[in-house]
Amino acid sequence: MMLLQCEHVTRKYQKSAGSFTAVRQVDFCVHSGDFISIIGKSGSGKSTLLNMAAGLLRPTSGKILFEGNDLAAMDARAMAHLRNSRLGYIPQGLSLLANLNALDNVRLPHFLQKHEGNGVSRAQELLEQVGLRGKENSYPAELSGGEVKRVAIARALMNEPLLLLADEPTGDIDVETTQGIMDLFSTICRDGTAILMATHDLDNVGYGNRLFQMSSGSLTEEKLSEKGRL
Ligand SMILES: Nc1ncnc2c1ncn2[C@@H]1O[C@H](COP(=O)(O)OP(=O)(O)OP(=O)(O)O)[C@@H](O)[C@H]1O
Ligand SMILES: [Mg+2]
Repeated sequence: MMLLQCEHVTRKYQKSAGSFTAVRQVDFCVHSGDFISIIGKSGSGKSTLLNMAAGLLRPTSGKILFEGNDLAAMDARAMAHLRNSRLGYIPQGLSLLANLNALDNVRLPHFLQKHEGNGVSRAQELLEQVGLRGKENSYPAELSGGEVKRVAIARALMNEPLLLLADEPTGDIDVETTQGIMDLFSTICRDGTAILMATHDLDNVGYGNRLFQMSSGSLTEEKLSEKGRL
């Protein structure tokens, strides 16, 4: 099943010196079952592309469809519903709410979606899966950079998204914990969540089934060898 479809997607930023093209005529699709890595130099446009896929940024031209629906045609309510119920997003930067503890940050999407129950046991389970058992009551200021990132990962998985958009999910995280997170991603992918991940960590690429390279805003698909290495 086709989940995300990008058609000739371009994003320009206005700068004092004129306009700058961060994403250039990008065409690709994500199907259910996909675990896609996007690699590419800093500044090549990966986050810009993921922000557009998450509906947080509009393309200057081109179209993005989710399950066949044009994001640009959705009203705020439909977009909020999509973001809370179908998509999980792990942004590159810090994104936790400072005045909520780790457990409540993870539970937040649950409340936004008005699910039954209070979400406590699922949030606890997710925190355990990202290696944060015992940190439920810690506030973001009391967590390390990698721990904050892992809370954001748990939060993105709270509502069992169809598509997980992960921007540098293992930046700031040690090798062992990174492997744990990639194993978790492999499991959730098998269980029905497609993954689109931007990463600088080449070891992560081997966990996926497809690989894209972003270069000066252009996206090309690369072959993955059988071992998943470049
Ligand atoms: N709001 C903005 N206004 C102007 N230029 C921007 C804006 N956001 C990003 N850019 C520029 O667009 C280009 C792509 O940025 P983007 O964040 O998408 O890169 P990236 O591939 O995610 O990099 P990194 O690997 O460092 O995260 C960069 O040159 C950046 O300076
Ligand atoms: Mg980025």
